[in-house]
Amino acid sequence: MAITDVFAKDLYKGKTVFITGGGSGINLGIARTFASLGANIGMCGRTQEKLDAACEKLSKDFGVKACGVAADVRNFPALEVSMQQCQDGLGPMQVLVCGAAGNFPCPAEVLSPNGFKSVIDIDLLGSFYSCRAAFPQLQQTRGSIIFISAGQAFLPYAMQVHVGAAKAGIDNMMKNLALEWGRHGIRCNSVAPGPIEGTEGVKRLLPENVRDQMIESIPLQRLGSVEDIGSVCAYLASPIATYITGTVIVADGGQNLPGSGHFTHMMMSAMG
Ligand code: HXC
Repeated sequence: MAITDVFAKDLYKGKTVFITGGGSGINLGIARTFASLGANIGMCGRTQEKLDAACEKLSKDFGVKACGVAADVRNFPALEVSMQQCQDGLGPMQVLVCGAAGNFPCPAEVLSPNGFKSVIDIDLLGSFYSCRAAFPQLQQTRGSIIFISAGQAFLPYAMQVHVGAAKAGIDNMMKNLALEWGRHGIRCNSVAPGPIEGTEGVKRLLPENVRDQMIESIPLQRLGSVEDIGSVCAYLASPIATYITGTVIVADGGQNLPGSGHFTHMMMSAMG
């Protein structure tokens, strides 16, 4: 079912949604969901050509305005320029999605200090820099921030020590900002996706030879789609969620329910 069968097609008409790392993957999926509901889209990412291609397609597919200005989320001045230029073209953002992230699996004992730092810098610092740079716009619109977290934030995952530290930091920061910025009318929430079909994350973390095994271990028995995550974001930023702040919504088909997937698999195997 398409989101436009559930939410009004003009729910975000005239509103601006800014997405970090918006040129691909889950973040582009989120952009497409908001655009399908009428939002104009601002985005940053490291590669201008990728942003240009994404924006052109968003405008063509949904008839909305889209503006992408390259900025690495680790570079605060560049982020400020990107957000200002998007504001000039689209108006102040109503929604900020902190989606830019880096990931690779690596055993802790061989992970280089700089490898750990790179993921912390992109995910955690980059999310704070984004919020800090977006604050004047969000204060003006009394807008909403959505952080893209992960199960690694609340469960340990092998070979993900850097990602777990970064995502746990993001969820804690989200709660701090919810506490401080509530008085400005700014809501802050996280969405924690599970493995999402067709994304860089799944490419890096889910080798083809264990794909079926992974799917079996997910209670809902499938990988997620980018639309699954876009829908949660569209809900969280909407007028029916205006009393929700400081929460994490886990959208993972049950993957991170502690032990349940494994236990279910074991019982299914034992009992036929
Ligand atoms: C070990 C690695 C490595 C690997 C990089 N490094 N890849 N170490 N195994 N596979 C180390 C490098 O050796 C270097 O340390 C340090 O990390 C920085 O690497 P650079 O390539 O110079 O940095 P940079 O260009 O900034 O790249 C950042 C990156 C990269 C995170 C390392 O992978 C990247 O740009 N990723 C963006 C796209 C991405 O990852 N998307 C997936 C997001 S999925 P030394 O010591 O050599 O200097 C996601 C979902 C999580 O986040 C949850 C899923 C369920």
